Amino acid sequence: MESGKQLTGTLALAVFAAALGSLQYGYSLGVINAPQKVIEKHYGRSLGVWSERVAALSENSTDEEKFSEAGEHPDVIKYWSLSVAIFSIGGMLSSFLVGFVGDLRGRVKGMLMVNVLAVAAGLLMGLCKMWKPHIMVISGRAVMGFYCGLTSGLVPMYIGEIAPKAYRGALGTLHQLAIVIGILISQVIGLDFVFGNDDMWPLLLGLSGAPAVLQSLLLPLCPESPRYLYIILGKDQEARKSLYRLKGAYDATFDLEEMRKEKEEADREPSVSILSLIRSSMYRQQLVVALMMHLSQQFSGINAIFYYSTAIFTRAGVGQPVYATIGVGVINTIFTLVSVSKYIYKHTDAYTHIMHWNSLIASLQTHQDKYSWMSYVSMSAIFLFVSFFEIGPGPIPWFIVAELFSQGPRPAAIALAGCCNWTSNFIIGMTFPYIQTWLDSYVFILFAVLLLGFAVFIYLRVPETKGKSFEEIAAVFQKGRKKSTQSPKDATELQQLKTATDA
Ligand code: GLC
Repeated sequence: MESGKQLTGTLALAVFAAALGSLQYGYSLGVINAPQKVIEKHYGRSLGVWSERVAALSENSTDEEKFSEAGEHPDVIKYWSLSVAIFSIGGMLSSFLVGFVGDLRGRVKGMLMVNVLAVAAGLLMGLCKMWKPHIMVISGRAVMGFYCGLTSGLVPMYIGEIAPKAYRGALGTLHQLAIVIGILISQVIGLDFVFGNDDMWPLLLGLSGAPAVLQSLLLPLCPESPRYLYIILGKDQEARKSLYRLKGAYDATFDLEEMRKEKEEADREPSVSILSLIRSSMYRQQLVVALMMHLSQQFSGINAIFYYSTAIFTRAGVGQPVYATIGVGVINTIFTLVSVSKYIYKHTDAYTHIMHWNSLIASLQTHQDKYSWMSYVSMSAIFLFVSFFEIGPGPIPWFIVAELFSQGPRPAAIALAGCCNWTSNFIIGMTFPYIQTWLDSYVFILFAVLLLGFAVFIYLRVPETKGKSFEEIAAVFQKGRKKSTQSPKDATELQQLKTATDA
């Protein structure tokens, strides 16, 4: 049995400070949606296509017509698409560096260092009117994406390592909670009467760097991950101090013993590079599970809703689609809160539910033009879809990767899983409009079919991790391989990994 108060003020502060990075990620994901038309107009001006296009219109044209006329210029469309997409490209690239940054000076210093990127990105976007807005915004979004790729790996890694075993799932879910709060905040302050207007949009984009300032003030007060101190650096006294700070005065024997076993394991398995992780058959099962969890999160179609909800609601005949989008953000936040407090669902159940509701949305949207009331049913189905997403596939992939791997391969695994998440996010963001044109209102059937496949895989292959130690989880996979880590083949592979790392 673990003892100690477990949930102390310092632990709460550490989780809160780390989660500010996730808030920033959510804000940056959502912020680009609402002010699209306003920003396109400024791009049009700075590209010199605004006056040329507007001149072609009659004097009586409304502002609305002028806006869309400038927005539809091919150059504006090109620069706008780039502003949206470059964020995911930045994330894809930097997610590979998560392990390196986390191990360089520790998790806390890692998060602190990368804040420089967030502040720089915020300034580039906030001050974009001072030079060519399209260049400034695209640069800012690239740097912000790069920052978010790092933070979306570092935060779950830190929280997973400092959380007491019994609360690891619930605290791990806070990463997702902060993401969804970030999305919601960006949706609300992106309304045109708040900051989503002609004058204030640079501030709206620039604010994405603000949580980094607060986080930089708080992180120096947070203890370093005891697992990093003990297992990576071998500093047991410092690890013990960090444990006391996180859990209060208690008998740390149990935790230290657990970490000692992990360290023994880690000493046998050197820190694994991304390439050797991909090649290694020892970790293949865990890796496949980790990647599938992230693929299923993204190919559930969740970001088709977050990126294109206004268009989806308009097609479904919902009046006031912007407010329906904010409704999605609110439901999303409420159900993430439910999953933090309850955390009752087994992974497989949650995935099965989301697949079920997804199919429902598909069939409902198929018949939306037959009856006027179908628009309400369709909207409710989307709300339900998002709710089930947040009690399963939303939060779980982000924290399960840290749980599935022992200390040696953990950073490389988080990096690979993060890159898989960012790449599939990018693919959905770029291709959804085309797939929608192709499949029309049957588009969600595609996601439903994919989810069915993922649900079967997860039901058969993903072990329950709730309440288990890292060692116990590793043992499940070792049993699955029907060989111990001491088997001659594994021993040879460990030796090869060691040689590759030393070289
Ligand atoms: C998860 C996904 C992210 C999505 C969000 C929605 O964090 O990784 O892509 O936008 O959930 O709540």
